[in-house]
Amino acid sequence: MLKGKNIILGVTGGIAAYKAANLTRLFVKKGAQVKVIMTPLSKEFITPLTLATLSKNPILVDFYNPENGDWNSHVDLGLWADAMVIAPATANSMGKMAHAIADNLLITTYLSARCPVFLAPAMDLDMLQHPANKNNIDILKSFGNHIIEPESGELASGLIGKGRMAEPEEILAFLENYFSKNLDFKGKKIVLTAGPTYEVIDPVRFIGNHSSGKMGYALANELAERGAEVTLISGPVTIQANHPAIKIIPVTSAVQMYQAAVENFKNADAAIMVAAVSDYMPAEVSNKKIKKKDADLNIKLKPTPDIAAELGKIKKPHQKLIGFALETDQEELNAIEKLKRKNFDFIVLNSLNDEASGFKTDTNKVTILTSKGEKKPFDLKQKNEVAHDICNELLLLF
Ligand code: C5P
Repeated sequence: MLKGKNIILGVTGGIAAYKAANLTRLFVKKGAQVKVIMTPLSKEFITPLTLATLSKNPILVDFYNPENGDWNSHVDLGLWADAMVIAPATANSMGKMAHAIADNLLITTYLSARCPVFLAPAMDLDMLQHPANKNNIDILKSFGNHIIEPESGELASGLIGKGRMAEPEEILAFLENYFSKNLDFKGKKIVLTAGPTYEVIDPVRFIGNHSSGKMGYALANELAERGAEVTLISGPVTIQANHPAIKIIPVTSAVQMYQAAVENFKNADAAIMVAAVSDYMPAEVSNKKIKKKDADLNIKLKPTPDIAAELGKIKKPHQKLIGFALETDQEELNAIEKLKRKNFDFIVLNSLNDEASGFKTDTNKVTILTSKGEKKPFDLKQKNEVAHDICNELLLLF
């Protein structure tokens, strides 16, 4: 999978830089062309000669090579690369990448690169957990950079905790997995709804629910990684989408979500309705905070628009519509009723009766029920694996 790929290996100044030798060797063994860019400090940890010998290419450190008068063009390097791997990635370099502090060849190349970027952080456990560093990692994720998580164990400081750079074999496996992904959704436009909706009661209160958005975001990510152009209409959540092919439309209420979904469905090949849309909203919104009184308070509610049902009505023959159902009783019966009423091609049933399944969890256990009457139960899995199964089912419909 890495055969013929051009890889830039960025090495920054941390003790784990010694592992860059083995990583270079593994990439070369797999048939990749490797050019190593080192930050000035990293030369204190591993010699350029070692990496030049293993990569079979001169090492790049400076913008200008005084020996032969060559200019190392970060723009050319950025365009040359099919992948950029920065291992180890120190807090310092990640901070510079997150904020475009372009004071060395590695950072300027990073800023010029159009290829996927993989970062293998390595640092002491407290540095890794510092909010400044965590924020920088979140920023890099929001650019679509892939973080290869550090491992737990004994650190160079002698402390024990999370911060060891992933082993070279693991970094290699991460890249091979990335490049082996089929772009089987290439050219497809998919709309998703995710998260809860908030229905305003007065300036400080709303009706909401416990949806975290995790399942919808996992699906958006899986689709984007498989080549789809994704529009994610999201209610208020605390998580982020980390792929450049995901366009987020943030909304708050069911009515806003409805408008965005109807508009964006027009040009879509499919829509997946994952949002936990409030079924009711206050009939009237008070423009002043409702005061506490001794008497009971009644708030009159009216139904929200059913987004899924509307898309089910307007959907054209080539368009596919997928729904979710979260049931507490008569699960299958209720899900099948919804599948028919909302004109879904299939519905993903997850039950609150299953432990570790549903809202806020990282795992989910689902059963897919199709409009052709099929029933496909799946095991309890991580939400990203569930997303993989759901996308495979959707692909069968195209
Ligand atoms: O009727 P119920 O809310 O259980 O239906 C669940 C499915 O319908 C989910 O796919 C959900 O996203 C969608 N839905 C919707 N608009 C609503 C209510 C539900 O799109 N107002």
